Order: sequence, then structure tokens, then C-alpha cells
Amino acid sequence: MKTIAFFNNKGGVGKTSLVYHLAWMFADHGIPTLAVDLDPQANLTAMFLDEERLEELWPDDEHPQTVYGALRPILRGIGDIAKPHVERITPSLGVVPGDLGLSRFEDKLSDAWPRCHNRDESAFRIMTAFHRLIESATEWGAEMALIDVGPNLGAINRSALIASDQVCLPLAPDLFSLQGLKNLGPTLREWRDIWGELLTKAPSDLPMPKGAMQPAGYIVMQHGIRDSRPVKAYQRWMERIPSIYRAAVLDEKPTSRIPPVDQDPYSLALLKHYRSLMPLAMEVRKPMFFLKPADGAIGAHVDAVKSCYRDFQHLARRIAQSAGIAMNGYRSNTQLENSNS
Ligand SMILES: Nc1ncnc2c1ncn2[C@@H]1O[C@H](COP(=O)(O)OP(=O)(O)OP(=O)(O)O)[C@@H](O)[C@H]1O
Ligand SMILES: [Mg+2]
Repeated sequence: MKTIAFFNNKGGVGKTSLVYHLAWMFADHGIPTLAVDLDPQANLTAMFLDEERLEELWPDDEHPQTVYGALRPILRGIGDIAKPHVERITPSLGVVPGDLGLSRFEDKLSDAWPRCHNRDESAFRIMTAFHRLIESATEWGAEMALIDVGPNLGAINRSALIASDQVCLPLAPDLFSLQGLKNLGPTLREWRDIWGELLTKAPSDLPMPKGAMQPAGYIVMQHGIRDSRPVKAYQRWMERIPSIYRAAVLDEKPTSRIPPVDQDPYSLALLKHYRSLMPLAMEVRKPMFFLKPADGAIGAHVDAVKSCYRDFQHLARRIAQSAGIAMNGYRSNTQLENSNS
């Protein structure tokens, strides 16, 4: 089982949409996949589930079926994590529902981090809660856990990243996104290094994540291509991505032989802005690449849906390859019916 986080501290770069679409794509290729909503905004959960179900999951009291519910005994200081509920979307796709209440875990995690230095077992239990929650939530056979997180470098994200084998970095070719990358790269390295030290102080009977958070590459979300925006500015930011990624994330020394984005092995995809498909997909609560004429995907949309499927399939293959998970051409019948391609 591989855990992959989609992370950038710049907001709105497409993290949640990526996790949603990739989880569907992996599942469609026979890879049992778990999507984990560790963003207290819970947007990923709202993409998967309709309002009726959300109302059931988020009643006024305990929320036993969300990530918050699983963490609640730890939050109350009365025990360890409870068994997490996995909402099954299809036989090969599950979701751990998010919760606005998750933000209450932020302080607990901030407080636990320095206490791990003192070999405090309860602090290690708190710090590894997400890791153990994901291990438990993938027991049905999930081979891949995709984590969605919020846009910040806070304690929840540090703990989510420590639980991750790999990190994919979605970004947009603009000043804010690249500035985000400059903060994020050194922060990831710092978290990895400190966790490595803390592991030597951890109790031996508690399952510990390695905290590898290996950068799998970046995904350029081409939101920057707008009619109103000068093409030159867009190109300038595009040209800077490979060198900023190498310096900030990989800590490489500058060299003169850095390939452009479209030839960069660290570039996992240049993803289009599917302007007209996304609103349709949100309305019918389906991935864009499963839209059918009955959903309103008619005329030029039909080709757009097919090209969207190919784009996400290509990206999914790159990620699976980097995670060492075989992704064949197999597609289950039920999901095939949903597909246009
Ligand atoms: N490839 C795409 N094509 C069209 N629209 C997209 C695409 N990716 C994302 N969007 C839209 O862009 C907006 C931001 O995307 P999303 O919520 O996935 O970003 P995020 O990085 O998760 O944001 P946050 O930082 O707030 O969590 C959403 O309205 C989403 O529908
Ligand atoms: Mg999001």
C-alpha cells in the first residue's frame, strides 16, 4: 500500500480536484483506492457525497463516521484512534470522509511535536494518528491512499505528510504558486529530517510511518491560461518551474542544463483547465471524464471528455509508476458503463 499526498501551501491550485479524479481513475484501472480527506474544509468529501449523505455524516454531535470521529478519543484524551469508517463509492473506491471539526486537532498536533523529543509515548500516538488511521482504513485491500490536505504548512499537514510515502505537487504557473513552492520545499525537508531523528526516540511497539514524503514530481495546472493574461507572463513563470522545483524541493545546485517543463522528467503532467466540463461534473457528482450526453456532455464536450480521460489516465500512470504500483488496462464493467471513451 502506498500513501500519496497532494500538497501545495498555495490555495486553489487544484489539489482536491486532482485527488478526486485520480482516485476514480486508479479505481477504474482495478487499483483499489482510498481517498482521505484531511483538509478541514472537507471539499473532497463534498465532491464524492451528496448533501443528504453529508447531513447524515455531520449531525450535531459526535460524527462517528468521519475522520474527526476516528480521532475523537485522542482529542478527548480518553484513548487511541477509533476504527475509521470508509464510505464505499464503488467496490474499488473508498473515502474517509472529512470534517470541519478536524481543525480542532491542529493544536493537539502542535503540542505533541516537541513532546516527541522527550520520548513521550502519548505524543507519538497523536503524531502517528493519521498514519494508523490510513493503515486501518485500507485493510479492505486498498493499494493506494490519496490524501487531500488544506493549503498551509500547519501541524495537521505536517502529520499528514509524515504519513505519506510520496508527495505530488500541483502548481500553477504564477508568482504565488512558485513562491509557495519555495516555502514548501525546505519545509518538507525539515519535516523529513526531524521525523527521522524522532524515529530513534519512538516507542518500539507503535507502528511508525517512515516519513519518506518523497517528491514524485509536479503537476502544472494551466489555470494561468486566461484570455486576459499576457502570454509572456505565463511563459515566464512556466520557464522558471523546473529550476525552482530543483532548487526548492530537491535541494539541487543550479546547473545550466535544466530542461523546459514539457521535457522535464519531474513534470508529471501539464493539465488543462477543463472550463466547461468541471461545472457539469460537479453538478452530476461524477469525474469529468465519465460525463455522458445524458449529463449534458454533448457536441464539442464529447471530444473534451475523451481527451480529459486520456490526460488523467496518463497522469495516473506516471504516479502509479513512481509509486511502484502496476496499472494495467483493466477496467471494471460497472465503471466502463459510466465512461464515454
Ligand atoms: N483541471 C481543472 N479544470 C477546470 N477547473 C478546475 C480544474 N482543477 C480545478 N478546477 C477548479 O478550480 C478550483 C480550485 O480547485 P480545487 O478546489 O481542486 O483546488 P485546491 O488546491 O484543492 O484548493 P484549496 O487550496 O482551497 O484546497 C475549483 O473551483 C475547481 O473546480
Ligand atoms: Mg482543496
